[in-house]
Amino acid sequence: MVKVITYGSYDLFHEGHYRLLQRAKALGDYLIVGVTTEQYDEYRGKLNVADSLMERIEHVKQTGFADQIIIEDHVGQKVEDIQKYNVDIFTVGSDWLGKFEYLKEYCKVVYLERTKGISSTMLRNGNFGIVRLGIIGSGRIARRFIPEVKYVSGVNAEIVYNPHLESARKLTELNQLNIYTDDREVLFRHSDAVYIASPHNTHYEYIMDAINHGKHVLCEKPLVLKKREAEEAFALAKEKKLILMEALKTAYAPGFIKLISTAKSGNIGKICEVEAGFTKLVQDHNLREFLPQESGGSFTELGSYPLLAVIKLLGRNYRDISFTSFCDKNGVDLYTKACIYYDRSIASIKTGLGVKSEGNLVIAGTNGYLIADSPWWLTKKFKLCYEDRSANEEFFFKYQGEGLRYEIGAFIAQINGLKKHTSVMKAEDSIAIAEIMEKYRNDLSNNLVRRIVL
Ligand code: CTP
Repeated sequence: MVKVITYGSYDLFHEGHYRLLQRAKALGDYLIVGVTTEQYDEYRGKLNVADSLMERIEHVKQTGFADQIIIEDHVGQKVEDIQKYNVDIFTVGSDWLGKFEYLKEYCKVVYLERTKGISSTMLRNGNFGIVRLGIIGSGRIARRFIPEVKYVSGVNAEIVYNPHLESARKLTELNQLNIYTDDREVLFRHSDAVYIASPHNTHYEYIMDAINHGKHVLCEKPLVLKKREAEEAFALAKEKKLILMEALKTAYAPGFIKLISTAKSGNIGKICEVEAGFTKLVQDHNLREFLPQESGGSFTELGSYPLLAVIKLLGRNYRDISFTSFCDKNGVDLYTKACIYYDRSIASIKTGLGVKSEGNLVIAGTNGYLIADSPWWLTKKFKLCYEDRSANEEFFFKYQGEGLRYEIGAFIAQINGLKKHTSVMKAEDSIAIAEIMEKYRNDLSNNLVRRIVL
């Protein structure tokens, strides 16, 4: 009996898939089809798979060609499967020509001609249309963001807006985009959704304006600095049936999602404390980060990351918060330590732009602890540690490029009504972060923060 194996995502099952499976089956007597998991697809850089794993398996099954369906979820699995199932032929479409030569050591490799004019990517784009994305602001983060857009299917960076036209022009040319403007009406005419990467204080006005123009919004963190503004913005988006999402990249990173579910799965017992730090020494104190009129300071600049971890792990119902800040002569915090008290747990976070400290994430539990070293906010790895060190376990994750592609992928998936990402960062999480930012800023101006002038 000749055994054949082939693999794919089989998303939005199409004629190309059908013809490939038909010919794969004809190569032998028994066909095994490996269908990829969502996590593995993300790992491979396919961020917008539309059908669930069960649906994709069902579609393969319905062809009647597969004698056995297996799930592919990790690198190196093909070699394992070929040996495990005694496979004679590995086959795949000609778009992969030359990519699987290494399997020739284990079995015969056959590249079948790919069916022309059809692909899942094409269907995804056709089904949902391409989202034209307008970029508001052309500073440092926008510069890192635009190149990441092309890794997500179904979206195109279209236009850059900045009231300072010259800055918009430079970014547009750098990325070979189509248009730049200092006129918001032009921006809205050329976009279906906007990404807001302007200074903190301008976010609220841009968000409301964009939503009122019928645009979906992805806005840099901190979304806004007042709870009421966050509530109003999400309420308006809901009323207009538009997506509003905070661009807090950590929330959408595959490793971070796994970290949260692992910590909450009972492995380390009951979670008692979360410690999270993020410090980044910035030498140039003339930058926006240090300007009081721009709501500068380490807490507004970096606090979103540790607050996300705390809220995801301990929830939004804290009882009290206390802050200690080291400030410059303008009253801008260079380092802030916050303690957040819950009924049955505690969180301590630290942020720094002018003071350096260890920036890791430690989650202490009654059975052990989870630790993710700096830069934990990219979450390339974390470790579970126990009293019995031989039981310790380490986990590694892929974090591609600047990692902004994950939040872009989640944003586009939500626009297209694909629910899979909605649990990652909820409106309530963004509202809770805005509330804490507001409390900190109020406490600072009312002298309720323990303040040390550096
Ligand atoms: N395939 C094919 N002809 C097509 C599309 C896909 O023969 N027009 C083959 C691929 O070469 C692969 C299998 O079908 O062997 C599963 O491919 P998959 O990656 O799931 O499909 P694509 O349509 O290529 O998906 P995407 O656009 O997401 O890359």
